[in-house]
Amino acid sequence: MNDLLKGKRGIISGALDSSSIAWKVAERAHAQGAKFVLTNAPIAMRMGEIKKLAEACGSEIVPADATSMDELSNLFTKSQEVLGGKIDFVLHSIGMSPNVRKNIPYSELNYDFYAKSLDVSAMSLHKMMSVAWKQDALSAGGSVVALSYIAAQRAYPFYNDMAEAKAMLESIVRSFGYHYGKKNKVRVNSVSQSPTRTTAGSGIKGFDDFFNFADTLSPLGNASAESCADYCITMFSDLTRMVTMQNLYHDGGYSTTGVSMEAMAKFSA
Ligand SMILES: NC(=O)c1ccc[n+]([C@@H]2O[C@H](COP(=O)([O-])OP(=O)(O)OC[C@H]3O[C@@H](n4cnc5c(N)ncnc54)[C@H](O)[C@@H]3O)[C@@H](O)[C@H]2O)c1
Repeated sequence: MNDLLKGKRGIISGALDSSSIAWKVAERAHAQGAKFVLTNAPIAMRMGEIKKLAEACGSEIVPADATSMDELSNLFTKSQEVLGGKIDFVLHSIGMSPNVRKNIPYSELNYDFYAKSLDVSAMSLHKMMSVAWKQDALSAGGSVVALSYIAAQRAYPFYNDMAEAKAMLESIVRSFGYHYGKKNKVRVNSVSQSPTRTTAGSGIKGFDDFFNFADTLSPLGNASAESCADYCITMFSDLTRMVTMQNLYHDGGYSTTGVSMEAMAKFSA
């Protein structure tokens, strides 16, 4: 299908390098006819990779630390100026835990870092929508998608305080989804993605082993970043106008599989 996002204006956060899920979403959104602004934390700009993506997509870059209301406010104001109207879709693809980065075990969390994890990885979604709400920046029927992980529902020992961040993120999806749906028919959903080899993903201890575990359990195998991008595009499109306040698993069937024959074979005596 072509031109699914023709005429739509968007904001895409979180493209750090070509392995980022947001990078693939940007490429797919461009291919489907959307115009959008790219954003990331000022510190991520220094790596310079995002400029290549911006050139390929004909996009402008507006830096914003997603924890700063002022910077987010500037992001939504500038994006509407650059794109020439209200915003039809927003991708929240942001996650970071200082506890994970510093290998601090879950039972000994540093609470300042914990607060930072929640602010960057979850509260930032609330802040984005709150800024958009105040500026009346989202068009009627617009779509907001945040990326999540199944550790919001189940215990994954290595996922540390990011588990709480994802649980909070998904709760914000429901709560703000209600209010924004009532206000302006804006849809808010999270996509709960398979383990994916990206900078954030690979930062999790034991990632490769877990990647293989999930791949062995899922009937379709792990979902790639590219297929996640395709799913996000459908969520931004008019084909999903009535889907809101959902956590949507995009995981090759992992979340509803008890065990696979391949996984059992590894334990056969
Ligand atoms: N990789 C996986 O296995 C996986 C699985 C499920 C969900 N996710 C989620 O997908 C999303 C994207 O992650 P990714 O895997 O593409 O990794 P990534 O490292 O490419 O993306 C994370 C992004 O968050 C940005 N970021 C961090 N702090 C920020 C701040 N203060 N303000 C603005 N941006 C900030 C980073 O610069 C980076 O671009 C995250 O929410 C992640 O939790 C990833």
